[in-house]
Amino acid sequence: MDDLAISVQNVSKCFRRYRHPTDRLKELLFPSRQKYEEFWALRNVSLEIPRGQTLGIVGRNGSGKSTLLQIIVGTLMPTSGEVKVNGRISALLELGSGFNPEFTGRQNVFFNGQLLGLSRQQIEERFDDIAGFADIGDFIDQPAKTYSSGMFVRLAFAVATSVDPDILVVDEALAVGDEAFQRKCFSRISALQSRGGTTLFVSHSADKIVELCDRALLLDRGEGLLAHEPKFVIDRYHKLIYAPVDRYEEFREEIRNTPDREVTPDETCNAPPELEASEKKNARSSEFQDDGDFYDPNLVPQNTISYIPRGAKILNPHIETLDGRLVNHLTARHEYVYSYTVTFYKTAHKVRFGMLVKTISGLELGGASFVASNQSIHCVEPNTTVTVRFRFRCLLNPGAYFLNAGVSGEVDGQFTYLARGIDIAMFRVRPDRSSFASGIVDLLVDPHVTVESDRIAVEPKVESL
Ligand SMILES: Nc1ncnc2c1ncn2[C@@H]1O[C@H](COP(=O)(O)OP(=O)(O)OP(=O)(O)O)[C@@H](O)[C@H]1O
Ligand SMILES: [Mg+2]
Repeated sequence: MDDLAISVQNVSKCFRRYRHPTDRLKELLFPSRQKYEEFWALRNVSLEIPRGQTLGIVGRNGSGKSTLLQIIVGTLMPTSGEVKVNGRISALLELGSGFNPEFTGRQNVFFNGQLLGLSRQQIEERFDDIAGFADIGDFIDQPAKTYSSGMFVRLAFAVATSVDPDILVVDEALAVGDEAFQRKCFSRISALQSRGGTTLFVSHSADKIVELCDRALLLDRGEGLLAHEPKFVIDRYHKLIYAPVDRYEEFREEIRNTPDREVTPDETCNAPPELEASEKKNARSSEFQDDGDFYDPNLVPQNTISYIPRGAKILNPHIETLDGRLVNHLTARHEYVYSYTVTFYKTAHKVRFGMLVKTISGLELGGASFVASNQSIHCVEPNTTVTVRFRFRCLLNPGAYFLNAGVSGEVDGQFTYLARGIDIAMFRVRPDRSSFASGIVDLLVDPHVTVESDRIAVEPKVESL
């Protein structure tokens, strides 16, 4: 068990279900008359999660994901089977769970912090950090029942991660936070990952499972169908949820019988495109949409990390249109300029400037590092200010994105970052109804269908896995 953070052995959970609310009472009064039906939410689920692993759990609504997490966390007892947890576990379960609605946010922080094993003094020491991370302003002293779902999740996540858990369990909850907050949470999860923590993560977002997780578990009707490399699992999960009704059992059986083997990328089958994408118009307008990009002053990252400057300062990171208008809601496929200014206060040699674009969950999508125009700024004297401009075409699908900026060079004989800002700016790509693109990057796919014969002789067969 030393190398394992969590071990789940043959866990099953049976709930009692009553047809009518009064049946429960009748049964209490007349114990001999059994009124309930048994419902098995989990059947013989086994799972071992090594320390340091990030496991994603996927499955349709009602497949047993939350039930499994609650059993692992210990808020629900299994009907049979055994769970072992090795380390301090902290959970962000379904919205509001663990919060007393009558207590204020502040009281709930103390209440939950103590449940998580912190002393009153430790909570007092960490309180400002928790409140700062949650960033819900005066609501911290209002009863939790007055909170929006976003406020709940902000405070709950702040508390759950404030205890430096060895194991963090997150049940879908993050989806209700706004994008800037989600980015902040994912960077906390990454920090936990990089210091060897274990994460269990339920999400309906296939992208996030693939980006964040080392392994994924597919639950279906309470059964663990497949635990494997995330992309491999997600592909099969998609195949299952888009399966024709009459072939569901067949697909399910195939997945369940997947041999336990290492997977090479070309073995993974192609997932059907996301439903939303196919629902979009089937033709892309050859002209761009209306020029509706704009600037929203409230769209700012909440997680900017500026490294201690070592010779320069990055100021005013922003995006502008080619004619110089400040924007942060961009139109897909248009060109923009990402720009920042750098003020040097030390002599620097061989100076380079960089940028990077990331998704909410931190996936690095692309960037550039360049040495200014005539190959490099060989020597920059103190008090010099330069403006750096990265022109780019926004080949990204709708969503929120985050930007880094960095300046490196030689200072005092050492090559180093002179200044660096992580998540220093953010932008959104506006929805575009005319696009059918899916995924993150817009590959400017230009689809054509040619009818090769005027009659299709055989009904197309749904490919098997
Ligand atoms: N206390 C309970 N009493 C009776 N049935 C329950 C109870 N809790 C959960 N269930 C049932 O167990 C099944 C699994 O529920 P669970 O909440 O674990 O699903 P889930 O995979 O988390 O779904 P979702 O994606 O909707 O969050 C569901 O059919 C649900 O109705
Ligand atoms: Mg759930």
